[in-house]
Amino acid sequence: MSTRRLWAAFGTVIAVSFLTLGYAGVRIYQQAPPVPERIVTDEGTALVEPGDVQAGQNVWRSLGGMEVGSIWGHGSYVAPDWTADWLHREATFILDTWSNQETGAPFDKRPAEDQARLTERLRGMMRANRYDAATGTLTVERVRAEAFAANLTHYRNVFGNGREEYAIPRGALTDPAKQQQLAAFFFWSSWAASTNRPNDTVSYTSNWPHEPLVANRPTPDVIVWTGVSILMLLAGIGLMAFWYASQPADSPDRQAPETDPLLGAATFPSQRATRKYFWTVAALMLLQIAVGIVTAHYGVEGDGFYGWKIDQVLPYSVARTWHVQLGIFWIATTWLAAGLYIAPGVGGTEPRFQRLGVNLLFGALLVVVLGSLAGQWLSVKQVLGSGTLWFYVGHSGYEYIDLGRAWQIALLVGLFLWLGLMIRALLPALRRRDEQRTILMLFAFSAVAIAGFYGAALGAGQHTNLAIAEYWRWWVVHLWVEGFFEVFATVIIAFLFARLGLVSLVSAGRNSVLASTIYLAGGIIGTLHHLYFSGTPTMVLALGAVFSALEVVPLLFVGFDAWHNLKLSGRAPWVQKYRWPISFFIAVAFWNLVGAGLFGFMINPPIALYMQGLNTTPVHGHAALFGVYGLLGIGLMLFALRALRPGEVWRDGLLRFSFWSLNVGLFAMVVISLLPVGLMQTWAAVEHGYWYARSPEFLQSPVVGTFRWLRVIGDTMFTAGVVALVLFVYGLITGHSTRVAATTPAGTVVRLPVH
Ligand code: HEM
Ligand SMILES: [Fe+2]
Repeated sequence: MSTRRLWAAFGTVIAVSFLTLGYAGVRIYQQAPPVPERIVTDEGTALVEPGDVQAGQNVWRSLGGMEVGSIWGHGSYVAPDWTADWLHREATFILDTWSNQETGAPFDKRPAEDQARLTERLRGMMRANRYDAATGTLTVERVRAEAFAANLTHYRNVFGNGREEYAIPRGALTDPAKQQQLAAFFFWSSWAASTNRPNDTVSYTSNWPHEPLVANRPTPDVIVWTGVSILMLLAGIGLMAFWYASQPADSPDRQAPETDPLLGAATFPSQRATRKYFWTVAALMLLQIAVGIVTAHYGVEGDGFYGWKIDQVLPYSVARTWHVQLGIFWIATTWLAAGLYIAPGVGGTEPRFQRLGVNLLFGALLVVVLGSLAGQWLSVKQVLGSGTLWFYVGHSGYEYIDLGRAWQIALLVGLFLWLGLMIRALLPALRRRDEQRTILMLFAFSAVAIAGFYGAALGAGQHTNLAIAEYWRWWVVHLWVEGFFEVFATVIIAFLFARLGLVSLVSAGRNSVLASTIYLAGGIIGTLHHLYFSGTPTMVLALGAVFSALEVVPLLFVGFDAWHNLKLSGRAPWVQKYRWPISFFIAVAFWNLVGAGLFGFMINPPIALYMQGLNTTPVHGHAALFGVYGLLGIGLMLFALRALRPGEVWRDGLLRFSFWSLNVGLFAMVVISLLPVGLMQTWAAVEHGYWYARSPEFLQSPVVGTFRWLRVIGDTMFTAGVVALVLFVYGLITGHSTRVAATTPAGTVVRLPVH
């Protein structure tokens, strides 16, 4: 295919995919579960005052939202899923009330026949849709109002007095009015999960969560589209295998250059200025691990850290927010810095004031990182008052885009500043229209997309329906990790090999465009796989299941890339110098297969209705996010640090240790602990209902408890790997990580300048 055709295919895929995703968005806006203006009983008593559901959503968000328990299965895993928890409590309360009225005995002491009759009555009541769109009023039976009161008392207790099994500290939320609003929001999320859509037999959340008491079980769509999704995957694999088989045999090996092409290259001041980004990355990594250990430990000791009561100072929700946020920050920082390092080298000149720009951006990023983390702490501690300050500088409550609005905007501005710095440095090369053009265009495209798509976070505003907020949140998270990050990863690795002269720029460029086209053909519409059960119409389920299955296909073939890269590293003796960055790139391919492809698909077909938000999700989250993009970030950092001083000789013992500890530790964390716990939870969710899989009774049972403790093994290895890496990186400043080389190929003795 000609390069022009390749680009045409690339553009068509993007245009068609976004039209489809946009259309799904229109339907999501139209069919989001309504937020009732008021909720009244049959007798006309007000149960929820106007605006309280909406206000409750914001109370929940200001407390850390998805970082403390989950709603509709999205969020964190120590506290319950509030939707499923509310639903189960409400259902059992009503059954007991009726049963007591009839015979004075609780429900579970009644004969099976009576239980069946009462359960049927409950289903009829709970699934009936009594929302009146004309008046914005939802009417409920008196017994539901009584259940509401009972649940409210329970949640006042959980959030007011704290609850160790949920890692919720005493005093988390003490204002009675806010507690009432929070309960109204939980009620609403549960109402939407169990009430049939108008003229339908399926709830707003496609019958998520599994709850036999109210007949919430997989819908026909869930089952059919699961089957189709698996077939699509198989068909995709077949096609891809056919395509690989049809490719001409490997072109004769390109001659590797005699010496390292980067050795003689001059470095510009702005390139050297990126080194401080990497020193910062090392610090952020350490901090992320530290709060990660605290977060994981809260799962087994809900109010402290080895007996030390830290839940008032660093509550679970803050520790988890910081853990997630810092991970994104350091990974992003390595990429931004790598981009800034690469661009002027490619362009061949240093644009005016480029170094100043790099330094300014660095300062701005520090402000955003520190400011947003502090704001989140203040918000969770409920010290930002009862106005809207929580929204602007505190906690968005939405996982992965947790920053307060002002910080989100600041970050977006920072990303555009970065983009500007990148483009102006790349421009001279883009204008040259030489063999680099294709790959540079794609590189520039991925930079524009990464910066631009963060903007979708702004779609989740202060009064946005949760179903719609979820749509925009996944525009950021999914379109980043399963869309433009993959493009960035493909293109940057190909590009670095091309810079080292190991592959031709032309073929690296064309292959990257092709790979990105194939990937985005599934990846863009695949966004919908996050939205199966978040209050969306069934078309979302069908489209999401089919396209996300296609997304897995290229990931199953990454062995080709890994093998290719491995071969390249043996091309010439000097390439050995880059062996650690290259090893990290090969590990990226491994985790793309295992973490993204296999573990992603494990929770991907709609039948994963049972699994949403169980430990199977962090299996995938860790293996894919750290495994693919974390390791890519480390590889890029090492490449840039290496190439900035090509004459230096590294003492790489620490790096070797780090590489293996990180990979084996990650594998152990996932396979010895998270995966078995997640599978046991899945079993429990299928057998008893989703609420049970997330309940303390189940999570603290001896067998599950033991497997949760086993996390320590992998986590410890992993931590050792991070510490070793950080020591190595700082050793580059102090000189501990380098040796004085006898001579470099150029014949000059290299001293180890301290910066
Ligand atoms: C390198 C690429 C990928 C990265 C970095 C990544 C990362 C993530 C992260 C961080 C989450 C959220 C986890 C949490 O809430 O704790 C997630 C969720 C999810 N991912 Fe991926 N992912 C990748 C690829 C894939 C692929 C290829 C698939 C399957 C086609 C997939 C399917 C899913 C699904 C279905 C969820 C939702 C799980 C739930 O809400 O229960 N991911 N992913
Ligand atoms: Fe996704």
